Amino acid sequence: MTATRLLHMAATAVVAATLAMGGAMAGWNESGGEQEEALTLKPDLENGLEVYEVCAACHMPEGWGMEDGTFPQLAGQHKNVLIKQLADIRALNRDNPTMYPFALPKSIGGAQAIADVAAYIAKLPMNPQPGVGPGTDLALGEKLYKENCVRCHAENGEGIDEKYYPRIQGQHYKYLVRQFEWIRDGKRRNANPDMVKQIQGFSDKDMQAVMDYVSRLKPPDKILAPVGWENPDFD
Ligand code: HEC
Ligand code: HEC
Repeated sequence: MTATRLLHMAATAVVAATLAMGGAMAGWNESGGEQEEALTLKPDLENGLEVYEVCAACHMPEGWGMEDGTFPQLAGQHKNVLIKQLADIRALNRDNPTMYPFALPKSIGGAQAIADVAAYIAKLPMNPQPGVGPGTDLALGEKLYKENCVRCHAENGEGIDEKYYPRIQGQHYKYLVRQFEWIRDGKRRNANPDMVKQIQGFSDKDMQAVMDYVSRLKPPDKILAPVGWENPDFD
């Protein structure tokens, strides 16, 4: 047997072991711990801003992320969703090697810091000009959205805070596509298993069409910033 083949077998065994561990993890949204604690704490918005200064380096002072999808828009995301995602990233239930070191307790603090920064981010007004897709298959995108996504992400992509269903309307297209693909293909480990099931039959073309449609859904006016808005907290 060649050395390469042996190495491959070893790697396969590691992957199998990792998958088995994943299978033994707590069910979706049942990790408890820091998430549960942060949900009950009263947020301190002033400290939220202080914590957010670390985050702004990547997510930008406005929380608008980057059009190229490297960094998602966070502004306007539901508080419970932000708390869950942050707690998942810190607990390594969702891989995010770029952000991980900056999100740890030793960098920003414990459950209270999560509650504070989530409350701060949730009230930032959203980007009025997110990155959108090519616009070539919007009718297909709309049809797929209405048939497969509305029950969780709601009519207009606004999500449901109490159920931890993210707001996806007006998010950058390229970020949406990356997450959708990772959820479909099992790479985003904290994903809701019902969503994973729902989208198994989606081709790459379907995925691009539905995400293009979603990136163009307009958030309500009252949570949308004017074009060119700059976060005055960062003056
Ligand atoms: C070094 C860059 C960097 C820093 C600093 C950073 N992030 Fe992130 N963050 C990212 C990247 C990259 C992603 C998207 C990862 C992916 O594609 O899965 C992300 C994703 C997220 C998400 C998930 C968004 C979603 O829609 O599910 C949340 C919430 C988040 N960051 C919050 C924060 C907070 C709060 C801070 C500050 C404490 C922070 N980030 C600091 C890079 C960063
Ligand atoms: C059964 C409910 C459910 C259905 C159906 C569903 N989703 Fe989701 N979706 C979720 C949940 C919950 C999350 C957050 C996962 C987690 O816990 O990390 C999510 C996450 C996402 C994300 C990542 C958001 C982010 O900010 O990182 C995208 C994109 C997305 N869904 C798109 C879709 C689309 C498009 C459809 C329809 C084709 C769909 N979802 C159907 C529940 C659902």
